[in-house]
Amino acid sequence: MSSVATAHARVHDQRMWLKPTLRLGETLARPPAPLEDLWPPGTRVAGLFSMGRDALWQMAAAKFSPAEFSVWLPAYSCTQLIDAFRRTRVPMRFYDVRPDLTVDWEAVIEARRRHAGRHALVVVDYFGFAQPFSLDLHEAMREYFDVVIRDCAHSLPHPAVGVIPGRECGYILYSLRKLAPIPDLAPVLTAKDSASSADIAPPAGRPFARTVYIGLESAELMIEGLRGMASLQRRLRRLKEDGQWGSPVSRLSLALARRVDFSRVREARRANAIRLAQGLAPWARCHHAPEAACPYYFPLRVNDPARVKDALARVGIETTTFWRSQEAVTGPGFPVARETARSTLCLPVHQDLTPGQVDRLIQAVSAVVEPAAA
Ligand SMILES: Cc1ncc(COP(=O)(O)O)c(C=O)c1O
Repeated sequence: MSSVATAHARVHDQRMWLKPTLRLGETLARPPAPLEDLWPPGTRVAGLFSMGRDALWQMAAAKFSPAEFSVWLPAYSCTQLIDAFRRTRVPMRFYDVRPDLTVDWEAVIEARRRHAGRHALVVVDYFGFAQPFSLDLHEAMREYFDVVIRDCAHSLPHPAVGVIPGRECGYILYSLRKLAPIPDLAPVLTAKDSASSADIAPPAGRPFARTVYIGLESAELMIEGLRGMASLQRRLRRLKEDGQWGSPVSRLSLALARRVDFSRVREARRANAIRLAQGLAPWARCHHAPEAACPYYFPLRVNDPARVKDALARVGIETTTFWRSQEAVTGPGFPVARETARSTLCLPVHQDLTPGQVDRLIQAVSAVVEPAAA
């Protein structure tokens, strides 16, 4: 190994970043394969986008006339998801999720029945853990919602998670750049034989602004590890804002994605999640990693996330709070979302963490966190 590679490996071992830092490492070590191999059976691509936010924005702009449609979003949501719909001025309504982050379907239907007009429903597979969906449920939702969008931005495509073939009205969104070592790529899939789920055109594009955005995102990640550079980081953030929205997926990502061993990424993330869930059983929100799960971050419920975040940062472990700033959860009426946003701290779980690092992570968390009340 060269001295640069050795130094990199040493830093990587000492620091635990939230995202993979060996970005073009062993995950790219395979001959190119068709991207189609990645999609679950019975699905086809309705659109390829640069980022998940572009996909949601274009979908809303193409399908939901603000005069006719409302879109239902979970109150525990990310800013980009909400901004995507806000940009098109589609009226937004919110529903709360259960404490285990599953959807209370009956409550959603009950709330929807109180409003006339046409409706779209967005369901989030939080942290890559699939929401329970069945054929019967899909049939029931079809009565109340014209379109169901399944937001799997935190996961990788898996044969067990797809729109249900033969059923209409479904789209499923991924954001592959979050989990794999590629700069951008967010596919939207739909059922192969769906008559009503039409294709969605990607935005016409400012690829340069997006390239700058992605470059700055990586620079910010590096700078985060260095102390005393907060003002530079703030400046980079302001520059990034310009590149946030609206460009087509880059050719570079399409070429790289053909070389990514997605099954390795999925299996490594799953193995880390299972190890963490076992080691952190008194704290973990998700006690199991079902077959289809491929977690983006590992969610942990703690009483004082800011203190724990600082304590872990002092021993070189990067974490994040999810999604504290979201306005929907600060209003009344969404107690679970509000408490979830207040208390959720996300740990790294990515494919570049070794079992030894995961054990160090478990030890570090156990040393600073009191188990939360169930
Ligand atoms: C649940 C969810 N959906 C969609 C998005 C948007 O994805 P992207 O960052 O690729 O725009 C995010 C962003 O973090 C997200 O957390």
